[in-house]
Amino acid sequence: MAFTIDANGVTLAARLSSQQVEQVRALASLCEVHDSYSMAARLDVGTLETRPEGSVKDVLWYQSGEMVGFAGMNSYGAPSEVEATILVHPDLRRRGIGRAMAHIVVRECQRGGIRRLLFVVPQESREGAGFARTMGTQHSHSEYTMDLDVTRIPPFETTHNPVELRPAGAEDVPIMAAIVASAFAEPVQEEEQALVRLMKDITRTTYLATQDGRPVGVIQSAVSDGRAFIIHFAVRADMQGQGIGRQMLLAIARGLQNSGSRWITIEVETDNRNALSLYEQCGFVAVGATDYELLELPRVPTAPELLFDR
Ligand SMILES: CC(C)(COP(=O)(O)OP(=O)(O)OC[C@H]1O[C@@H](n2cnc3c(N)ncnc32)[C@H](O)[C@@H]1OP(=O)(O)O)[C@@H](O)C(=O)NCCC(=O)NCCS
Repeated sequence: MAFTIDANGVTLAARLSSQQVEQVRALASLCEVHDSYSMAARLDVGTLETRPEGSVKDVLWYQSGEMVGFAGMNSYGAPSEVEATILVHPDLRRRGIGRAMAHIVVRECQRGGIRRLLFVVPQESREGAGFARTMGTQHSHSEYTMDLDVTRIPPFETTHNPVELRPAGAEDVPIMAAIVASAFAEPVQEEEQALVRLMKDITRTTYLATQDGRPVGVIQSAVSDGRAFIIHFAVRADMQGQGIGRQMLLAIARGLQNSGSRWITIEVETDNRNALSLYEQCGFVAVGATDYELLELPRVPTAPELLFDR
């Protein structure tokens, strides 16, 4: 376990122990009772213990042996971009703990070569927007969190051109990266790196969707504690708008429901009208919204550059 403790009671952890995950859960439920909204989806609590090690460590803040602050770091896409979700014990807010943790996060990001740091700010949060502003962020985008309402899942449909989902392996990474890159207009190489990293997480399953034997889409599920997230959902750019995504989403949602997931969650950018209406048609309902506030980090010059510039 790679972690260090300094005199201020701050722990930096590359991967959390079971005990630390329990402490995060305890802090998150305390905050949930106080704030009246859930941080579980935003923190991705279920995957904290199993995440593949990223380049940035989580920050754990202790006082008298109790975890009173947590900055959870997640990287879902490009390796140079991370998300930070910061939480401070309700009785200890506005005492500089959040700011101090954010500064550690920035320092760690710069050490890890991260260029884009996104602060995860629930729209329900009373303090989040003001806090992010003082960190000098710019609004990047907003996402809805949508939960599946099982009573709204459409009845089974027969189709003349069925889409099949099969669990993907390492050999499928190049084609999957090409699909995801085409769908999001992102560089293929970054998607390849992200897929390789995310597929190491044992809570995630990646599926390749095929139609007539041809690869057409990618979708992942991450399951823990009875909660399932549907992520990394993409249909080849030239095959969108033909009902492939609908078949993929319904297939994975039914599979997750049959295997006992009590909550099935998906997130979507608030201005992605097409995806939003697809998710609603499949039975998902918006339960919250999150702002992503961006801090662009200058590259830290390397030692030779510093010497050269003198
Ligand atoms: C947001 C949060 C992490 C801030 O932690 P904190 O330890 O209370 O924040 P700090 O004391 O370090 O505040 C730093 C600055 O943020 C701003 N800020 C913090 N709380 C604020 C509030 N309630 N209203 C307006 N501005 C606020 C202030 O500018 C503050 O500086 P100041 O006290 O010198 O004016 C904490 O309130 C929290 O856990 N909220 C619930 C979860 C959440 O919204 N997370 C999103 C984090 S991006």
